Amino acid sequence: MCGIVGYAGGRPALGIVMDGLRRLEYRGYDSAGVAVVDAGELLVEKKSGKLVNLEKCLAERVDTGFDVGMTGIGHTRWATHGGPTDRNAHPHLSADGRVALIHNGIIENFARLRADLAADGVEFRSDTDSEVAAHLFAAELRGVQIGGPAALAEAMRRTARRLEGAFTLLAVAADTPGAVVAARRNSPLVVGRGVRENFLASDVSAFMEYTRDAIELGQDQVVLITPNAVEITGFDGTPAVGTAFRIDWNVSAAEKDGHEFFMLKEIAEQPQAVADTLLGRLDGLDLDLGDVRKIVIIGCGTAYHAGMVARYAIEEWARIPCDVEMASEFRYRSPILEPGTLVIAISQSGETMDTLMAVRHARAEGARVLAICNTHGSTIPRESDAVLYTRGGPEIAVASTKAFLTQLTALHLVAMDLSSPPGIAAALAHVPDQLRTLLGEMDPVRKLANDLADARQVLFIGRHVGYPVALEGALKLKELAYMHAEGFAAGELKHGPIALIDEGTPVICVVPSPSLRLLHDKVVSNIQEVRARGARTVVIAEEGDDDVVPYADTVIRVPRTPALLAPLMTTVPLQVLACSIAAARGYDVDQPRNLAKSVTVE
Ligand code: F6R
Repeated sequence: MCGIVGYAGGRPALGIVMDGLRRLEYRGYDSAGVAVVDAGELLVEKKSGKLVNLEKCLAERVDTGFDVGMTGIGHTRWATHGGPTDRNAHPHLSADGRVALIHNGIIENFARLRADLAADGVEFRSDTDSEVAAHLFAAELRGVQIGGPAALAEAMRRTARRLEGAFTLLAVAADTPGAVVAARRNSPLVVGRGVRENFLASDVSAFMEYTRDAIELGQDQVVLITPNAVEITGFDGTPAVGTAFRIDWNVSAAEKDGHEFFMLKEIAEQPQAVADTLLGRLDGLDLDLGDVRKIVIIGCGTAYHAGMVARYAIEEWARIPCDVEMASEFRYRSPILEPGTLVIAISQSGETMDTLMAVRHARAEGARVLAICNTHGSTIPRESDAVLYTRGGPEIAVASTKAFLTQLTALHLVAMDLSSPPGIAAALAHVPDQLRTLLGEMDPVRKLANDLADARQVLFIGRHVGYPVALEGALKLKELAYMHAEGFAAGELKHGPIALIDEGTPVICVVPSPSLRLLHDKVVSNIQEVRARGARTVVIAEEGDDDVVPYADTVIRVPRTPALLAPLMTTVPLQVLACSIAAARGYDVDQPRNLAKSVTVE
């Protein structure tokens, strides 16, 4: 949540910061703002709403300092404390307007700090928790005896020590051009190292156009960037070094490349993304998982659904007991984690706070943690015992698509590593080609989307691995098209949900592979049951499965796979359906209301 960018170098900062914000806008789009330092002057602009509003304001400004200043920070906001208004937009300024600060996270002791500052005569201009950090930082800066950039770092350390909660802070000062200082606790921040220029950002997509060299930071660290140096210390001033890494994502991966939405582009990228996840891994993984006697998978939203799918493969192939739990619930019920328990934490961003907290809990209780993650330099892999990167490339659309398929692929690789099921490696190797074929056959789904765009509700049913696919299909439709959509285990329908069905209710039925004869036939019966109550049935079924035809108003075909791999196919039409319905209803597919891609608050 909230995207932040900082730049200190030899080029005008504004363009670089705005480019970074464009790439980070998926993290929040309630408001955006920038601050640029030029020749002892601090210039600030901020605006509620999407980045385009800020761009319009900047286009109208005539002050040249804005265009030439070579030090800058920028912020795109997902509101927590205080509504999405101009006054709550970041940067926040000190009372004298000489210091600007941006924040991602939540400052938990802000009320007490705000009261203390107010008692000292500070006047607040926003309703945010973040503004206290700006005033505290300015006050600490006044008290620091040294000058120059080092003063910024010392003031930031002192500020960070007074804050509780999760935060990334970036600050600049009018009197210290050429320096940006940042602090990090439980909130993302990476450094980009260029030639006579350095960058700070929530993730590497913000600066990968300018440099491929990045540094991961630890928790509770302050980093000062100037054009020629990156200096890292702990909050107590102890010198520290980050972990350097190369960014292997390509720049065009973060562009729309002619697609109407990032989501469409990311759906189209799935064959390649799955191929990349598989590359060099089908013969085994380079992971030391130790003695695994029980597996607990944790994740949120789409990642949780990926875990639900994987449980079937892990238990069937490896015969290892496997639980799946929403990361947000995990640590609050004292889970039993014995020696031999492997916790698998799934996260595209690697920053989801619910998942991070669950990882910390699991490790504190003695479990080993394997992260399945897409984002290098992020916190969850850093805090886990082992990591399997999904190699999906940047996912910009808020709704996860290629992340889901690559998470499934990675999880199947883990299950295979624990068991070697016959024929699965060959079947997985074939999946990218099958996905290409499937994506070429989506016209009927787009047509269906037009028919369903005005539906009052859409229900999804499935069994076995089709059940999490039904949940995922419903989640996509809710988040993108703002429609009432629910996924059910088909067998549960008669225990209550079937009452929701009336004349014309669309029910999307994810049919198991006919190779699972008993289950398959039961779902065919469930389709008949809903149809008998007036449902309009849309059936997602394997090629050649003709048993479903008499009961389907629409059949969507997917290529044949081994039964446990079917979600790699059946999910795709549901992604396209949700995206197309949202577009038909006129909504912003990439940036649905109220959401942000990286959820760094609990
Ligand atoms: C839904 C979606 C979310 C994320 C969830 C976890 O389309 O994208 O449900 O899957 O917020 O995010 P990560 O994987 O970054 O931990």
